[in-house]
Amino acid sequence: MTAANQVVVRSAIERDLVGDFVRVVEEAAVAAARTMGQGDRKGSDQAAVQAMRRAFEEVEIAGTVVIGEGERDEAPMLYIGEKVGAPPRDGLEFPRVDIAVDPLEGTNLCATGTANSIAVLAASEPGGLLHAPDCYMQKIIAGPACRDALDIDAPVRYNLKAIAHSLDREVKDLVIMVLDRPRHEDLIAQIRTAGARIRLIPDGDLSAGIAAAVRGAGVDAVMGTGGAPEGVLTAAALRCLSGEMVARLVVNTPELEARVERMGIRDPKRIYTARDLAPGEQIIFAACGVTDGALLHGVRFFGDGCRTHSLVMTYKTRQVRFVDTVHMYREPGRRGVRLY
Ligand code: FBP
Repeated sequence: MTAANQVVVRSAIERDLVGDFVRVVEEAAVAAARTMGQGDRKGSDQAAVQAMRRAFEEVEIAGTVVIGEGERDEAPMLYIGEKVGAPPRDGLEFPRVDIAVDPLEGTNLCATGTANSIAVLAASEPGGLLHAPDCYMQKIIAGPACRDALDIDAPVRYNLKAIAHSLDREVKDLVIMVLDRPRHEDLIAQIRTAGARIRLIPDGDLSAGIAAAVRGAGVDAVMGTGGAPEGVLTAAALRCLSGEMVARLVVNTPELEARVERMGIRDPKRIYTARDLAPGEQIIFAACGVTDGALLHGVRFFGDGCRTHSLVMTYKTRQVRFVDTVHMYREPGRRGVRLY
């Protein structure tokens, strides 16, 4: 392929693949939603992974998973480095795309039928998403108004004042989302002392991060430590929403240090912004609700099919779409298509 052709193919990623990627997250969400409330988080995750893997087989990309279900030996599918996409045909060269997936973000949420579990993927041209290890990441996430206002090394009260100032509010008006974990005891105490309000969430700092970047979602920032893979996916969403993020990997064992080095990360203490974590110029972020949530409805099943609710965003073409799909398992009977 000539360099000129390659540019054409690369610039087509956002334009051509949005619909396909919505379908991929829809398939994963529907499969996971079938298991809702069964108390089997692994089973729910497996259902989502299998469905997402199958759905990728129909997408005309030469995809490489850069954030996935883990390393090859621990994940049978969607492992880091796995090639995904339709088999090549007729001498056609499909676009090379890096893919970050979380087929079921909030496995416990789905297993218990709790709000805010989603099926997620992000895609970019090669090199557009950080290859992050599956470790923890310290994060502060807020909306576009907080541009350059966040400092991961500053005291909590400083960041809260900066967020309040950027939003033209007082600290006591803020709502900060924090994962409800023992490791956050001190953080929670500091937020309380500063006077901001808190929403503790059982899981799902990715959808919390997206909510923080969307006006009217009732959350002003997310603070605390969650998964690094979720951090990269959040960053991809934030690039599309112009949200703010500062983050740092938590590398606290010699094994992790070695792993981080193997993944090509030279400075494990580096402070990342959303652009550092998802530097792509062509980014697609797609999420589909599994259980009902603040931004997305969960999957609703009815006799002849089901209905899904997805969010798909692009960075360069600046589009945020909510997609409401009725999936029919058979030709609609006399009752016709159900609208709600
Ligand atoms: P899973 O979907 O893998 O269960 O992750 C849910 C989640 O709550 C993430 O949103 C978050 O980043 C991470 O787990 C936090 O990890 P931990 O549960 O170990 O505190």
